[in-house]
Amino acid sequence: LNNNFSTTTPNNNSIQNITVYGSGLMGAGIVQVAAQNGFKVTMVDIEQAFIEKGKKIIDASLSRIAKKQFKDDENSQKSFIETTWSNIKTETNSEKGAENTDLIIEAIVENLETKQNLFKKLDKISKPNTIFASNTSSLPISEISKITERQDKFAGLHFFNPVPQMKLVEIIKNDQTSEDTYQKLVDVTKRMKKTPVTCKDTPGYVSVRLAERGEATTEDIDTAMKLGAGMPMGPFELSDFVGLDTLKSIVDGWRKDGKIDAGLVAPIKKLDDLVKEGKLGRKSGAGFYTY
Ligand code: CAA
Ligand code: NAD
Repeated sequence: LNNNFSTTTPNNNSIQNITVYGSGLMGAGIVQVAAQNGFKVTMVDIEQAFIEKGKKIIDASLSRIAKKQFKDDENSQKSFIETTWSNIKTETNSEKGAENTDLIIEAIVENLETKQNLFKKLDKISKPNTIFASNTSSLPISEISKITERQDKFAGLHFFNPVPQMKLVEIIKNDQTSEDTYQKLVDVTKRMKKTPVTCKDTPGYVSVRLAERGEATTEDIDTAMKLGAGMPMGPFELSDFVGLDTLKSIVDGWRKDGKIDAGLVAPIKKLDDLVKEGKLGRKSGAGFYTY
């Protein structure tokens, strides 16, 4: 990928160039959806091997969508895929990734310090009007944004997994987030053909609620929730899908925060053991289930 994008922002001041940090499950999905909808996107990760993983995720998803949208028309399928890729470039140098971008969406590991370190660095080198957004599942946006000099241009932009499929995006606006920043993020979300909802900066937001009760087998609980409650995935399948390391960081973070009932966020031994064994869910080939 050697795409060179124009670095001039159009007069209307709306967002055109987006940089996504992290090319994992979420980052790759966000890059894809943005590029599919005409944004110029830079995908940044710390190593080329992770970038390659992200590209594979995008490839698989794009060909699924192309086949569905342009059933018997191979030319249109090809052109859809090529046009999307022409909107994407990749970068392993985090400073370079931030050059001339209008919006930074961070989707790196769920760790407060790692996120703060990245944004602290990016704050110094980014254009003054670049908006910063974090896709964090559980960390307070104000805790991340406070280390920057642009708290008014900082918000949460919470996509759901799998990004190309899930319509919802939570925009987390805190007291420092300006109305202009918020409106720009609403506009970006809609241009990505997603439905935004606005949330306050409280841990857990509206939708994240993943709990475990070990009173039956993993398989039985999943079957019961799918057939009895109409869920598309059972809770353990979903946990594997989200990533057990990410899930563990979320629960650990909430426990540390102390705002949620201690019983609900007590350590889950099975989860801790699986993460220790490197069984991180679907992305690593094994978790509660083997893939
Ligand atoms: N890219 C493109 N298309 C995709 C896709 C992807 N990554 N994943 C699934 N699809 C499409 C498939 O092509 C298929 O389309 P058709 O029906 O037109 O053929 C359709 O979605 C259904 O896929 P499948 O038949 O393979 O499987 P499914 O019916 O089980 O659907 C699913 C897959 C959409 C992932 C569904 O299982 C589901 O909704 N699961 C629950 C997901 C969920 O709850 N996500 C939220 C997680 S929590 C979170 O994200 C917040 C957090 O901070 C942790
Ligand atoms: P993941 O483990 O799949 O990917 C994280 C990626 O970030 C990795 O490729 C890693 O190399 C990269 N990374 C780490 N440090 C970096 C840095 N300094 N610069 C650039 N890249 C860096 O994780 P994920 O599931 O994509 O989750 C990412 C974020 O999105 C987390 O904050 C998570 O809480 C949130 N989230 C996850 C889900 C989900 O279902 N997995 C849903 C919504 C939100």
